[in-house]
Amino acid sequence: MKHLIDLDDFSLNEINSIIGKAIEIKKNPHEFSNVMHGKIIGTLFYEPSTRTQMSFQTAMLKLGGQVIGFNNPQNSSVAKGENFKDTIKIIGGYADIIAIRHPLEGAAKAASIFANCPIINAGDGSHLHPTQTLTDLLTIAEQKNTLNGLTVGFCGDLKYGRTVHSLVKMMLKYKNNKFIFISTEELQIPDYIKNIIISSGNSYEEVFSLEDSIDKLDILYMTRIQKERFTSIQDYNLQKDVFKLTTDKLKNANHNMIILHPLPRVDEIDISVDDDPRALYFKQASNGVFVRMSLILHILSTKIDENVENLTLNESCNNKLCITNHEKYLPHYFKKDNNSYFCEYCSREIKL
Ligand code: NCD
Repeated sequence: MKHLIDLDDFSLNEINSIIGKAIEIKKNPHEFSNVMHGKIIGTLFYEPSTRTQMSFQTAMLKLGGQVIGFNNPQNSSVAKGENFKDTIKIIGGYADIIAIRHPLEGAAKAASIFANCPIINAGDGSHLHPTQTLTDLLTIAEQKNTLNGLTVGFCGDLKYGRTVHSLVKMMLKYKNNKFIFISTEELQIPDYIKNIIISSGNSYEEVFSLEDSIDKLDILYMTRIQKERFTSIQDYNLQKDVFKLTTDKLKNANHNMIILHPLPRVDEIDISVDDDPRALYFKQASNGVFVRMSLILHILSTKIDENVENLTLNESCNNKLCITNHEKYLPHYFKKDNNSYFCEYCSREIKL
């Protein structure tokens, strides 16, 4: 079975072919309208969602398949105390493929251990959001005709923004991309992502002002401050209005810079910016359907070798938001890279 937990699970060729197929589907959707006849997607959303959940559902319906699932676990047996493993085992028996969103980091990886169908990570806490990245890549490729040699400015909540983490990791797989991280000190990109950038031989800049860097960018990727990840409302209030993109600030941007945002927007992009031809976030959201159609097709037509060896240790992950610290029956899987060990679920390094 082929899962999509992290885009690292896929080769660059596979990713390019998913994007290519999404473009083909977008041009001729009727040619794909029956290819998933008889197949069912389970959309298990333990966290709120509009675009991701509905675009997965729309994607399967447009392919001729059907949809089951929940968007509020309190309406499922989770409310009666059913554990994560049991829910996944059951739905994995009903559906041919599952898209799962969960507030804990590593939840999609955990689901992949128990489900007897492929799992797609539709967002696991602040960790990753690989299908948003595919949507972002399609939008960038369409607009820029390349995924190489771009300067990307990420602005806002770079600490908790999982779409940022996934897109940065992915852009490292293409050539000569540069990153400018624009945030407050409190919401800077996590160290483990910085380490990935450095070990891949790339570099980044961290700055505090959007105005001072906007003229250097090919892409401005705005993000919402992730209110639900803050432990105090006071801390959130201190962050929420720091960055706001306005038509005035855009005067200094290149005429061909594009503005992306995974949405939902709160106040970080003024509504007046929507009329600027560089604002592509609504187009980006509609691309989500085509890319997810392409992804479902790809996953359900790929067979892989099942013999994956996992490295199990007695150690626990020290990330409190990692699912292994909440669902205690999960095996402690780690990845070894040089002399360091990383949690297989949430990617954080563990100190032995
Ligand atoms: C993003 C998410 O859920 O991480 N939304 C989405 O899937 N398009 C971004 C966000 O919630 O801020």
